Amino acid sequence: MVPSLSSLILLSVLPLTALSSVVQRQTTTTTDQFDYVVVGGGAGGAVIANRLTENRSVSVLLIEAGPDNEGRLEGQVPYIYQRLFGSNWDWNYTTTPQPGLNNRVSPYFRGHVLGGSTSINGMTYTRGPASNWNRIANYIGDQSWSWNNLQSYFRKNEAFIPPTGSGTGNRFDPAVHGTSGPIGVSLNSVNQWIIDPTLTAAEQTGIFPYNRDGNSGSPLGISWQQFAIRNGARSSAATGYLNQQVRARSNLRISLSSRATRLIAQNGTSPLRFTTVEYQNAAGATVRAVARREIIVSAGVIDTPVLLMRSGLGDAAELTAAGITPLVNISAIGKNFIDHVGTPAAWSVNTTLTDDEIDRNSTLFNQLLAEWNQSKTGRLTTTSLSHIEFSRLPNNASIFQTVTDPTGGAADTPHYEQILANKWTMLSPRPASGNWVGMTHFVLSPVSTGTVKLNPANAQGPPLLDSGSLSHPFDIFVLRSAIRSTAAYMNAPAWRQFNAAPAFDASILNNDAALDNFIRSNSFAGAHGVATAKMGPRNSPAGSDVVGPDFRVKGVQGLRIVDASVIPFSPSGHSMVPTYVFAEKAADIIKSGN
Ligand SMILES: Cc1cc2nc3c(=O)[nH]c(=O)nc-3n(C[C@H](O)[C@H](O)[C@H](O)COP(=O)(O)OP(=O)(O)OC[C@H]3O[C@@H](n4cnc5c(N)ncnc54)[C@H](O)[C@@H]3O)c2cc1C
Ligand SMILES: *[C@@H]1O[C@H](CO)[C@@H](O)[C@H](O)[C@H]1NC(C)=O
Ligand SMILES: *[C@@H]1O[C@H](CO)[C@@H](O)[C@H](O)[C@H]1NC(C)=O
Ligand SMILES: *[C@@H]1O[C@H](CO)[C@@H](O)[C@H](O)[C@H]1NC(C)=O
Ligand SMILES: *[C@@H]1O[C@H](CO)[C@@H](O)[C@H](O)[C@H]1NC(C)=O
Ligand SMILES: *[C@@H]1O[C@H](CO)[C@@H](O)[C@H](O)[C@H]1NC(C)=O
Ligand SMILES: *[C@@H]1O[C@H](CO)[C@@H](O)[C@H](O)[C@H]1NC(C)=O
Ligand SMILES: *[C@@H]1O[C@H](CO)[C@@H](O)[C@H](O)[C@H]1NC(C)=O
Ligand SMILES: *[C@@H]1O[C@H](CO)[C@@H](O)[C@H](O)[C@H]1NC(C)=O
Repeated sequence: MVPSLSSLILLSVLPLTALSSVVQRQTTTTTDQFDYVVVGGGAGGAVIANRLTENRSVSVLLIEAGPDNEGRLEGQVPYIYQRLFGSNWDWNYTTTPQPGLNNRVSPYFRGHVLGGSTSINGMTYTRGPASNWNRIANYIGDQSWSWNNLQSYFRKNEAFIPPTGSGTGNRFDPAVHGTSGPIGVSLNSVNQWIIDPTLTAAEQTGIFPYNRDGNSGSPLGISWQQFAIRNGARSSAATGYLNQQVRARSNLRISLSSRATRLIAQNGTSPLRFTTVEYQNAAGATVRAVARREIIVSAGVIDTPVLLMRSGLGDAAELTAAGITPLVNISAIGKNFIDHVGTPAAWSVNTTLTDDEIDRNSTLFNQLLAEWNQSKTGRLTTTSLSHIEFSRLPNNASIFQTVTDPTGGAADTPHYEQILANKWTMLSPRPASGNWVGMTHFVLSPVSTGTVKLNPANAQGPPLLDSGSLSHPFDIFVLRSAIRSTAAYMNAPAWRQFNAAPAFDASILNNDAALDNFIRSNSFAGAHGVATAKMGPRNSPAGSDVVGPDFRVKGVQGLRIVDASVIPFSPSGHSMVPTYVFAEKAADIIKSGN
């Protein structure tokens, strides 16, 4: 994911498909009742709404703030997903000025559409290392969360589509994949010039050992990247878990363009039992829905803590300061905001085959779009990525003299990720001429954390997102190492054939202060946030986390949270698959009545 706000030209919007059970405009003002009311139709909420309504005796209302995902080309064509940033499919959040980013604010993209952020994201499909999951199992004291014991959920999510053609058998391991889940997963199959130097330079430098399948539980090295793309089009929580057949279920009601404003508890219950969701419907009226069994909040890493805080759950002193009457003092709500900072760096190359040409030449782009539109083939079936690289710092890295390794030394767990794009990916505008490859570096083991808070001056307005980006010296050390590793990699003979040269002053590579300044001036908040309504062990000290291993909000009744906000540690990969797997697991726990 690389923001390119300068190129936000929206394509024409195709007509929306009318669907019987999807309510575009809800006019009723009576209080409807359902067994479950789910707030938010993203990675977490779509899974819950789908799985709970598999039982036709169970009724569910799914309330989604954004519009339908159907019928808009940028939502389907992988190459142009960044055109959705800053549109009505985006919440348009920004961080507070970040000292770690030289006091810049960063956009904080969040999907505002059915499918949530999976309808606008970069589609990178990563499970993370086995140790990530074993760590969660040990932390919450429940071995059903271990990598081995979650295998059925990883497989349940995906329909892996193997590449075809000779020589492709070494690009994935069929033994580790599911083949019949809702999310289509595939590799980039466009034969691009960049693939040969990408793999050859890895061999020549030895920096990235070849890894046949990065989703085997051992992601280190260079792998063919796996994407949530099916038949050349985005596969999202909406297209996968809320497809036409699911939407046709009479026990599922989806209310679009409907924003939950408050959760309301039953008077006189102790602990407080939450039963009612107040929301603003598509017609702008404030209405209520009652959950006979439970409310499930799946509004994501930003809006879940925001909705809880506006409902009186949170740090009591902060709520009071924002003019909200505290009902339950749960100080962990909105704390522990952890994200992956991303730092792009570009190298020039002397081939004209890069995707920069597509972005600059509207004739070429329109030809490729017509091809995609006709047959879902060609260069627009992919983003500009083909491979993904995961690495650890060396064990003797100087930072470990002062900072304990946040991965706990787990040998399968990367400290950072590199993804090489077939074009310019810097935050600054693309130069008018020239061709580029852009390496983006992500800190996957961040120590920096931030907060999500209500704005004390306007509790109903945009929240204050302090991503805490690069506030801890460990994180910037990781990025320095990652960029130096890229520079060594780009110096390989395979890249010298293309006259590869850094698009920045190469002398900064030998100067920590100058390199730090480059990093702080060029990085962005990575959109992989977790932990703002953190899951913890069943019997942890009150207020130190928000939900238990059963996803129930501690200290109240009738309320669970199922989305990225409960993931307790930053995933050592991207956050979509972890969210899907948490949600699949949650659905089974809810169905079991526990
Ligand atoms: C630009 C971008 C790029 C990314 N790239 C990748 C990637 O390549 N790979 C990857 O693995 N991860 C990626 N991610 C992260 C991944 O998409 C998220 O971690 C994941 O979608 C989180 O799921 P969620 O259910 O927690 O939240 P979301 O998927 O964001 O869903 C939350 C939903 O709740 C709705 N909502 C919020 N508030 C309310 C309310 N008050 N009332 C009603 N509805 C509400 C929202 O509109 C949204 O639909 C990216 C994210 C972004 C934004
Ligand atoms: C379906 O839901 C009903 C009502 O809650 C319940 O009685 C029944 O056991 C469920 N069926 C299955 C197969 O879980
Ligand atoms: C985000 O900003 C764009 C441009 O101003 C606007 O069209 C869009 O509606 C905004 N998104 C939301 C959810 O308000
Ligand atoms: C709870 O009580 C208050 C005051 O007595 C009343 O205004 C409110 O409507 C009641 N709420 C519910 C959900 O019954
Ligand atoms: C733009 O693309 C078209 C179609 O591929 C090509 O004919 C034309 O030469 C390109 N223009 C430039 C300036 O490269
Ligand atoms: C896509 O194809 C349809 C006909 O199949 C056509 O109506 C539409 O204009 C095309 N859109 C684009 C962007 O080419
Ligand atoms: C780490 O060890 C390697 C050899 O194993 C050595 O080349 C390198 O200089 C060492 N680095 C530090 C910071 O000590
Ligand atoms: C690119 O640069 C390399 C190394 O200088 C050179 O051998 C090659 O001919 C150049 N290619 C083009 C297309 O100019
Ligand atoms: C809220 O809980 C925290 C600990 O989680 C505690 O430090 C604080 O004093 C409590 N505030 C109130 C008002 O009880």
